[in-house]
Amino acid sequence: MKKLTTPSFFGIITLGLLVSFSFMFPLSDSRIEPGDSDYDDFETPEYCAQCHNQFYQQWKQAMMSEAYTHHWDEIEYFKLAVAHAEADPDFKEAVDGCNGCHTPMAYLVGDFPPPRPSEGSRANESVSCEVCHLIKGISGDTAYNFNFILEPGDTKYSSRKGETESPNHEIVEIDLHSDTRLCGTCHNEKSPFGVWVKSTQLEWEEGPYAENDVTCQECHMPDTEMRTAKLGSTYPDARMHLFNGGHDPGKVKGTIELRIQPDIRETVPGEVVVLTATLFNQKTGHKFPTGSVEDRIVWLHVEAEDEDGNTFHIPVDKKGFEGEEYTIASDVLAYQDMGVPLGIENFEGVRREDVPIGDRIYRMPYFDPEGRMTIMQWNTASLGVDYRIGPRETKTETFTFELPFEIKPGKVQVTATLYYRLLVKPVGEFLEVPEEEYTALEVNSHSTEITVYP
Ligand code: HEC
Ligand code: HEC
Ligand code: HEC
Ligand code: HEC
Ligand code: HEC
Repeated sequence: MKKLTTPSFFGIITLGLLVSFSFMFPLSDSRIEPGDSDYDDFETPEYCAQCHNQFYQQWKQAMMSEAYTHHWDEIEYFKLAVAHAEADPDFKEAVDGCNGCHTPMAYLVGDFPPPRPSEGSRANESVSCEVCHLIKGISGDTAYNFNFILEPGDTKYSSRKGETESPNHEIVEIDLHSDTRLCGTCHNEKSPFGVWVKSTQLEWEEGPYAENDVTCQECHMPDTEMRTAKLGSTYPDARMHLFNGGHDPGKVKGTIELRIQPDIRETVPGEVVVLTATLFNQKTGHKFPTGSVEDRIVWLHVEAEDEDGNTFHIPVDKKGFEGEEYTIASDVLAYQDMGVPLGIENFEGVRREDVPIGDRIYRMPYFDPEGRMTIMQWNTASLGVDYRIGPRETKTETFTFELPFEIKPGKVQVTATLYYRLLVKPVGEFLEVPEEEYTALEVNSHSTEITVYP
């Protein structure tokens, strides 16, 4: 049995435990088990490339082909997750389970932990062609925690059985590959505490794109006229294997439309101008940010600049909702639970985010069993306020700007800029993750003008 609570939790346990225990073994209703297969049961992506070269080249440039080898994945898996399971064996099952989504072949082989990426093992194939095209179903109704049914062999599953036969494999047409639940098997994740720590497909289901039947595939595997195989037929709607998302600046830019306007255009120092910013999510089929929400932040920075080039930072006005403190940048410390896998006693943590104090942050905090913010999603016992921007949702923010007496009379330009980071910077720096993982990306910006009279 797993240890779930610390003694301090004793009061609330009975019901909590009953609820949680039913989720404690999320793998038990999964149809794949470690040891079911051998690496030789699978073809390599290079083998498929002989006839499906375009898809192979696209996939190779996508995160799917790096899900096991990418630097931050390697760091988090080995430095934090594997080390955490060594310090606390209750986490071993969840940590072995990382591979169920990041390198399903290695999971099926039962290779835990798989060799480091530098050793060049077949675990490096990550989410390969075979992984998705050997999936023939899912177990249960809700897709999560790699509950796909995968059968190695010559039969490949997809949404189309074309006019041409393949000389090298059988094709069976199933609906699952044009269904979002295929994606949901890996893009929805429940922690060992029964908390949804990834819910991209569930967010989609609740949103307007599900109603209009605009699937994940529409936006992440757009269709165009092309041959799907060498010697195959040309189809008007062949699915590109792009899978570009958070790691593609072009995909992220412009996700949110941004405008800002003042309530008065002419004023004098000492007076107050209230600026209103409007943020419209015109591009994602799920919330923004989504996926690894424990890592990702989006924030809005507003500043005024006078004709002499002096700048004045304008903090966001509080709205007063519960948990709002997590959505306004501060200098508090967080992520103390990293101390356990890192073997640092009484670890004081690192800054929660490195963003100008007072800026609005669009995020959802994850909490460890002691109620401290965590980026270790497997150690997440509860979630905080969800202040992300939903699909086609519009949020507004106000900024009360008391014009300082030192401002230069004349035109004053106020600029709102929305930034995105894949990983909170202090954690990236602390764990020595390459900088590209926490470089601030400008999602959008807009400026407005006021005139200040002496
Ligand atoms: C077998 C598991 C699995 C399945 C099935 C799966 N994904 Fe993924 N996907 C992953 C993993 C793991 C990553 C993260 C790669 C990384 O950064 O480590 C990922 C990353 C992505 C990304 C993000 C790339 C980025 O730039 O950050 C997109 C977009 C994506 N998947 C879309 C899809 C879509 C659409 C489907 C369904 C057609 C799908 N995925 C099915 C495992 C899966
Ligand atoms: C209407 C278009 C649209 C639909 C539908 C859509 N997405 Fe996205 N998705 C985007 C855009 C735009 C981004 C880039 C902005 C961002 O990171 O959220 C994105 C980003 C992502 C990311 C990267 C998130 C990150 O932080 O790295 C993943 C993973 C992803 N989508 C998976 C999915 C899955 C799974 C589905 C279906 C359940 C889906 N998307 C449906 C447009 C869409
Ligand atoms: C020797 C050539 C060859 C190899 C190798 C090959 N395929 Fe195919 N494959 C084809 C042909 C030809 C078709 C039929 C294309 C058509 O419909 O016009 C096809 C069709 C498919 C389809 C169905 C979609 C469609 O367009 O009909 C899938 C899915 C697929 N292949 C996956 C794979 C995977 C995964 C691998 C690697 C394990 C692979 N193939 C290896 C030749 C090949
Ligand atoms: C993350 C899962 C995933 C991975 C990885 C993946 N595919 Fe696919 N593939 C799909 C889905 C989903 C579809 C069908 C999309 C639809 O019809 O909406 C598809 C369609 C195809 C098709 C048929 C295209 C069509 O329009 O009929 C071929 C051929 C194919 N894949 C080959 C490959 C090859 C080769 C690789 C590796 C280089 C690969 N796939 C990797 C999910 C994946
Ligand atoms: C249910 C499937 C699933 C499980 C289990 C899972 N992951 Fe992931 N992981 C994903 C998907 C899908 C993404 C991509 C989400 C996104 O793009 O935001 C991802 C993203 C990540 C990222 C961020 C990649 C980046 O470049 O920003 C890291 C690091 C990571 N996972 C590590 C782990 C570790 C460590 C474990 C085990 C404790 C684990 N994952 C368990 C599916 C899973």
